Amino acid sequence: MSNKKILVTGGAGFIGGNFVQYMVNKYPNYDIYNLDLLTYAGDLSKHKSIEQEKNYHFIKADITDRNEVFAIFEREKFDYVAHFAAESHVDRSITEPEIFIKTNVLGTQVLLDASKEFNIKKFVHVSTDEVYGELDFDPETFFTEETPLQPNSPYSASKASSDLLVRAYHETFNLPMNITRCSNNYGPFHFPEKLIPLTISRVLNDQKIPVYGDGKNIRDWLHVTDHCAAIDLVMHEGANGEVYNVGGHNERTNLEVVKTIINTLEKSVDLIEFVTDRLGHDKRYAIDPTKLEKLGWEPTYNFETGIAQTIQWYMDNKEWWEQILSGDYKKYFEKQYTFEK
Ligand code: NAD
Ligand code: DAU
Repeated sequence: MSNKKILVTGGAGFIGGNFVQYMVNKYPNYDIYNLDLLTYAGDLSKHKSIEQEKNYHFIKADITDRNEVFAIFEREKFDYVAHFAAESHVDRSITEPEIFIKTNVLGTQVLLDASKEFNIKKFVHVSTDEVYGELDFDPETFFTEETPLQPNSPYSASKASSDLLVRAYHETFNLPMNITRCSNNYGPFHFPEKLIPLTISRVLNDQKIPVYGDGKNIRDWLHVTDHCAAIDLVMHEGANGEVYNVGGHNERTNLEVVKTIINTLEKSVDLIEFVTDRLGHDKRYAIDPTKLEKLGWEPTYNFETGIAQTIQWYMDNKEWWEQILSGDYKKYFEKQYTFEK
């Protein structure tokens, strides 16, 4: 592989952070630039294992700051962009939608303009299956790349808007691009506001687990390492202008997920607390990954092996998530969850 300069936006977050580590380790001759604003969701402590590597670089910047972004693109002359930076939590988009439009829509537009201006070889836009809306509980129905976009939350509407901008820059300006739409990720360095890390960290502390509604909503879980491999493949081999769905057929109800974690940690199901449902709560997500499989991708984890690895990681890396739980997150949790804790 010849030398390449790769800009990863949002590389201090969960998936972007895993992707940065994956790329730094896999391609010693690529230069990996992690550009991140370090919002509540970003932290650099996760990169202790690579921060001394010669091919890892960090740039603190805001993707919505046009002058800053253009100056960075002009200086660094990137070959590829993998765009992860976003506001990513559905619950926060219900209480504070504005920042989702700013970061996810306007931020993407700034990056597209810079990518066009400085002739990026490919813009890989990391999107989500939530742009397709929801499926009913018929197990034979799946999201394909042809499923119409019908986002239901301010978060997914902002992601769908950014997808449409990426498509438009390809059609209008011939910007080389791919869009990936992945199902729910889990694994190391997942911020504990999301269901799986929230459950693991709270079960380990013998605290109640808030399950929205009846717990029967279904998500299709993919280990983050398999998502990273998919983006690497799409970046190198994806056909210009194409969308690729990413998912591994690991559908579980939320209650199944929570009970699996409780059972693995040998705690009681009495920790489960059914709480007020999320507004506009999507019933089910499920991905048909056939198109990506034809490109040569296959997941290495199923849900059982992936959740076991993840639970073990949270047990071995308490200091990482405990420093998050003791900070601003505490205030967020008190405001978001009103049940008797
Ligand atoms: P995350 O919330 O963990 O991380 C987001 C990162 O973006 C943080 O490091 C944050 O500091 C950074 N950021 C936010 N605003 C910024 C700005 N203005 N400028 C620069 N950096 C900024 O998110 P995640 O869960 O890792 O998701 C990454 C991407 O993958 C998102 O685009 C999300 O929509 C998509 N996605 C997530 C999942 C999932 O299950 N988590 C699934 C499919 C797709
Ligand atoms: O499908 C991909 C999406 O997955 C990504 O685009 C998003 O960025 C990511 O956050 C995730 O969205 P979800 O809303 O599906 O993930 P979350 O972990 O917030 O919730 C998973 C399910 O668990 C969902 O049905 C809501 C439920 N839930 C969540 C929380 C935080 C609860 O029952 N209780 C909770 O406290």
